[in-house]
Amino acid sequence: MTTFTAIASESSAATSFTDAQTPPGQARQVYEALLQRPDAAASRDLANALLEQQLAIAADQQDDLPEQPQALAEWINAGVARNVEAYQAYLEGRKTGAPRRYFSGRAQALHFIRSVAPTKCVDGAWLYGLLPHYRDVRFHGLIRTYLEELGDGDPALNHVVLYQKLLARYGCDDPLALSDEHYLQGALQLSLGYTAEQHLPELIGYNLGYEQLPLHLMISAFELNELGIDPYYFQLHVTIDNASTGHAHKAMQAVLQNLPVVGDAEAFYRRVRRGYRLNDQGIGSTEVIKRFDLHSELLGILERKRQAAGQVHSDYCRIEGRTVNEWLSVPGQLDDFLQALEKRGWIQRHRDPQHSRFWQLVQGEQAAMFGVFSPYELQVLHDWIAGGWQAHSQPDLQLVGRSPARAIFRSHFRQPPAATPISVVVNGMSDTGVPPNDFNDECQALQSELDRLPVDLRAQRLIDLMAPAHHATPAGLYATRQFSALLQQP
Ligand SMILES: [Fe+2]
Ligand SMILES: [Fe+2]
Repeated sequence: MTTFTAIASESSAATSFTDAQTPPGQARQVYEALLQRPDAAASRDLANALLEQQLAIAADQQDDLPEQPQALAEWINAGVARNVEAYQAYLEGRKTGAPRRYFSGRAQALHFIRSVAPTKCVDGAWLYGLLPHYRDVRFHGLIRTYLEELGDGDPALNHVVLYQKLLARYGCDDPLALSDEHYLQGALQLSLGYTAEQHLPELIGYNLGYEQLPLHLMISAFELNELGIDPYYFQLHVTIDNASTGHAHKAMQAVLQNLPVVGDAEAFYRRVRRGYRLNDQGIGSTEVIKRFDLHSELLGILERKRQAAGQVHSDYCRIEGRTVNEWLSVPGQLDDFLQALEKRGWIQRHRDPQHSRFWQLVQGEQAAMFGVFSPYELQVLHDWIAGGWQAHSQPDLQLVGRSPARAIFRSHFRQPPAATPISVVVNGMSDTGVPPNDFNDECQALQSELDRLPVDLRAQRLIDLMAPAHHATPAGLYATRQFSALLQQP
C-alpha cells in the first residue's frame, strides 16, 4: 500500500466499501475501494458506475482531437510546438521581470504537491488491465509505458515511489483534507485499470490525453526549482512523455494499432474520444493552483491546532485583554486573534519573519512551541507573515541554474541506481551479497512461491503484485523486475 493510500485508509476507517448500491460519483470511495479491495465485485461495480457516469458527461463535451485518427501524429506535433512556444514566451517574460505564474511562494507550491497527490500516487494505473495481454503485440507499447511508470522495478525510477519521497522530503506526507473532486482523476485512472475488458477504447483515449506534454508541467517544474523544491518528478515527465519516442508517441500508435479491421472503426474512435475527454473531469493542476488562498489555508491550520490543544497555554500573557486560552476557546476567533497578534507587535507582517516574536516561538529547536507545526504548516505561516517582503525578495533568475534544487535535480542522474530492496536468494545468500534477514525475507518467500508455480501462473502472480496498490512496495518492485525480464525473453 502506498504512503498516500495508507493516509487515505486511516482517515476513512468508517467508510464501508461493500455496498455495491452506493451511488456513483463518490470518487474517493471508488479510489479507496480499488486500492484496498480491487478484487471485490462491489469495488468493480463502483468503478463501472463511476466510469459510466463520467463518460455520459463526456459525451456532451467538446474536444480538440482530429476527425481522423490518421491525423494524430500531426496533431501531437502541433500541440508540442504550441506548448514549447508558449513556454519560451513564459521564460522570456520571466527574464524581463514577470512574476511567477503559478506559485506565490513555497507554501502554495507545497500545497499543490499535496493536492495532486491522489492522482500522482496512482500514476499509470489506467494501464494496469493490459498486463494480462502481454503476449498481444498491439499492447506492447502501452505495457512498456506502464513498466516505465513503474521504473521497471527500480525504486529510483518508479514514479509512485518518487512522489512518495517528494511528499516525505518536504514534510507533506501527513493527511490533508481534500475534496472529493481531488480524488476524481485518480479514481478514473484506477477504474479504467480495473475494467479494461469493458473500456478498452476509452482507456486508449484516456492514455492519449494524459501522455501529452502540457504547458503547466514545464512551468511547474521551472517554478518549483526556482523555489528550491526538487522538480525531478515533474521534469522527468517532460522527457519521458516526449512525442518522438516517448509515451505520447506510444499513445498515438496504440490508437492506430487497435483500430478494428473488421467492425466499426468509427464507433471505436468515438469511444477513444470519450475516454480522451475524461482527462478534463475533476480538478486539474492549474485549477488546484488557482484555488489556493494563503490566508484561508493558515486559518484552517490554526483551527485544527485549536481543536487539538485549545487549553494548554498558560494565562500569564494577555493579548488585547484576553488570554491565549480565551482566544482559542471557541471557533471563529482566529482571524481576530491574528489581527490582535499583529496589532500588539507579536507578528510583523511583510517583513522577514525572523523579526516576529510569534515566529520565534514556533520555529527552531530552542523555540517554546517547537514541533507544534509540521514543516508544511510552518511554511504556510512563514509565507503569510513574510507577505510582500517575500514578493520583493525574489531569487535572482540568473542564479536559478545554481540553486540547491537544480543541484539536487542533476544529482538524480549522477547517482547509481539504488540497491534493490529485495533480491534473489541463492544458496542462502541474496544476489546483493546480503544474507537473508528480517528485511529481505519477503524475497525468499516470494521466490520460492514463484519457483513452485507453472510459467503462466507465475506471470499472473507477478501481475497481481504489480497492481497500483502494490507495485511501489519491495515485493511489487521485485515482481516488476521479473516481469520486465520475462517480456525480454524471445
Ligand atoms: Fe508517470
Ligand atoms: Fe507517461
